[in-house]
Amino acid sequence: MTKERVRTARKRSAQSTRWLQRQLDDPYVKRAKAEGYRSRAAYKLIELDEKFALLKGAQRVVDLGIAPGGWAQVIRKMHPKAAIVGIDLLPVDPIEGVTLLEMDFMDDSAPGLLIDALGGPPDLVLSDMAANTTGHKQTDHLRTMGLVEAAAAFAIDNLHPGGSFLSKSFAGGSDQSLLSELKRNFTSVKHAKPPASRKGSVEWYVVAKGKKA
Ligand SMILES: C[S@@+](CC[C@H](N)C(=O)[O-])C[C@H]1O[C@@H](n2cnc3c(N)ncnc32)[C@H](O)[C@@H]1O
Repeated sequence: MTKERVRTARKRSAQSTRWLQRQLDDPYVKRAKAEGYRSRAAYKLIELDEKFALLKGAQRVVDLGIAPGGWAQVIRKMHPKAAIVGIDLLPVDPIEGVTLLEMDFMDDSAPGLLIDALGGPPDLVLSDMAANTTGHKQTDHLRTMGLVEAAAAFAIDNLHPGGSFLSKSFAGGSDQSLLSELKRNFTSVKHAKPPASRKGSVEWYVVAKGKKA
C-alpha cells in the first residue's frame, strides 16, 4: 500500500498539515470513503450499536449535530423506514427519509420544532454535538458539557418510555449531577469509548437505556 504524503504548503499551518496527514493515514476515513459514509463518525455509532444494541427497533430518531450525516446514513441502512429528524448549525446535503433543520439546538424553539417534525415522541435520541474548540481546555469542556446537558434534558422530556439516549461526552464520564439525573430517568447508564474514537481524544460517549415512564 502506498502511503499518501501531505506536502506542507507554505500557507498551510503545521496543525492543519498534521490533521490532513492523519486523515489520509486513518483506516476509518478510508473505510468510510469505500463504503459510502459521509464521515468516519459513522463507525462510532456502528461500534456503539454492536455493544449496546441501541438501534434495535428504532423507529423515530432525533439526531442532534447531524452534519455531515454519517450516523443518519447508518440508521437508514439498518431501518429504511425509520423516521429521522436531524439538526445542525451547518447545512447538510439531503439524505433520503431524513428531515433536516439548519439551526442552533440551543435555540428555545428547537426542541418543539424537532418533535413536530418527527410527528411523535422519539424512541432514540442521539447527540454527537461538540462545541467548536477554542484551545482553552476548561472553556471547551464547559461548552461541550452544556450541549450534553441540553441534549439529556431534551431526551428526558421527550423520549418514549423504554427509549434510549446516546451522547458524546468526555473522558472521566459526565459530571455528577448529569449522571444522577440520567440514573434517575433511565434503567441503565454507561460510558464507552468506541475503537473509532481517536485514542488521543478526550471524547467518550454516555449511553442511557430504558427511559423510565
Ligand atoms: C462531530 S460532528 C457530527 C458528526 C455526525 N454524527 C456524523 O455522523 O456525520 C458534530 C456536529 O455538531 C454540530 N453542533 C455543534 N453545536 C451545535 C448546536 N448548538 N446546534 C446544532 N448543531 C451543533 C456541529 O456543527 C457539527 O456538525
